[in-house]
Amino acid sequence: MLVAPSLLSADFGNLEREMQWFNESHADMLHLDVMDGVFVPNISFGFPVMRHVARLCQKPLDVHLMIVEPQKFIPQVADLGARYMNVHFEALTHHHRVIQQIREAGLKPAITLCPSTPVAVLEDIICDVDMVLLMSVNPGFGGQKFIPQTLQKVVQLRELIQKKGSHALIEIDGGVNMETGKQLAEAGADVLVAGSFVFGAANPKATVDALKGLS
Ligand code: DX5
Ligand code: ZN
Repeated sequence: MLVAPSLLSADFGNLEREMQWFNESHADMLHLDVMDGVFVPNISFGFPVMRHVARLCQKPLDVHLMIVEPQKFIPQVADLGARYMNVHFEALTHHHRVIQQIREAGLKPAITLCPSTPVAVLEDIICDVDMVLLMSVNPGFGGQKFIPQTLQKVVQLRELIQKKGSHALIEIDGGVNMETGKQLAEAGADVLVAGSFVFGAANPKATVDALKGLS
């Protein structure tokens, strides 16, 4: 299992210290949750904070934009040196165009679905993205309860990926812990995002290892 701890639950007063354990851990990438107070009812952090974190972080960045008009920020995300740029399906009109623009900027395009958006909307873009992020909570806040219907969506998405011959990874975000992580692994998830469960743990590195051990 690939594991992407979410910076949203980090101690922002001690980012150096947080990034130190993170760099020493077996985490696969760092998940960055950007919120604009419009697309979601909360504001998190923006590019100045992400530039600072990018300098400290020795692993790939997975930028999850919970904002309207995410296509406006493709150059800034590329400048961060991020690996994945995750844009919400619900925030876009011209999905195919934006996915191509993200790829042309040297980033791996990923598309995110809110809990109420069905997997079927991905039918004609699944071969163009490198990852699909299924939200397992309504976006906007860390520490929420996992929505169990997500498990069914993982199975449906795996079927769609196989049917279309796509190489997209399946990433899940929200309410991930050992229990939901195990269920998600069984359903076919490839990447688990975990915020509060990892950053709130007494031993974050061991918690990352425990999640990585799920299969
Ligand atoms: C929710 C964010 C999530 C959140 C996950 O809007 O996209 O990444 O940080 O947090 P936990 O793991 O605490 O549910
Ligand atoms: Zn996220």
